Amino acid sequence: MNSFAEQLDRSGTTAFVHAKHPRSICVINYKGGVGKTTVTALLGLYLAKIAKKVLVFDIDAQCSLSLALGFDPEKVSKTELTVYNLVEPKAWTKLKQKKLENYAQRLKSSYLPTNVEVVPGSFSTDELDYVIAKTLLKDEQRFLAELFLYTKQLLMSFEHDYDYVLVDCSQQDVPYAGDASRLCLLFARYYS
Ligand SMILES: Nc1ncnc2c1ncn2[C@@H]1O[C@H](COP(=O)(O)OP(=O)(O)OP(=O)(O)O)[C@@H](O)[C@H]1O
Ligand SMILES: [Mg+2]
Repeated sequence: MNSFAEQLDRSGTTAFVHAKHPRSICVINYKGGVGKTTVTALLGLYLAKIAKKVLVFDIDAQCSLSLALGFDPEKVSKTELTVYNLVEPKAWTKLKQKKLENYAQRLKSSYLPTNVEVVPGSFSTDELDYVIAKTLLKDEQRFLAELFLYTKQLLMSFEHDYDYVLVDCSQQDVPYAGDASRLCLLFARYYS
């Protein structure tokens, strides 16, 4: 986390760290199976119950959160409306062309609240850390600045539409897992 933050420092874009969504919460842990997804799902549903509008990102390639909330990751993986498509390097200069509202999907079950929306996971999320790392290796300074600016603008574009933004991260001790989650940590106001 520190070295990632230091890298961002060197890219000269640290000021953006202060522009966080006021109620963004990243649920993260080094260890697997400790309740990250359960906390994210139940917190999201609870906040919706008390009339808050909530957006939940599933950035774990296991897609457990998406499954729990009624999404089929296999179907989602066949579309272009995935976390991968939203955060992959090709997207970093194309925020204006992205129709962000299309990425956030309502829960399908009629007995679940309508004021929770999900950017569902897909199996390709697994490759996200790898493609981010590969791109940064080409020209760290240029692409970090691009990535940082893009993520900040992305998060801020959701700011007016949602009271809370929650992120369910993957466990952090598998190869390549990390950059996408660390980025979320930097932009989240709180983490759990
Ligand atoms: N408070 C709790 N008490 C008992 N069991 C729990 C509790 N919270 C979660 N569990 C159970 O623990 C298991 C793991 O939970 P969960 O999938 O939320 O963990 P995770 O950290 O997201 O795992 P992963 O690292 O694989 O994404 C699940 O079977 C879940 O039902
Ligand atoms: Mg999980």
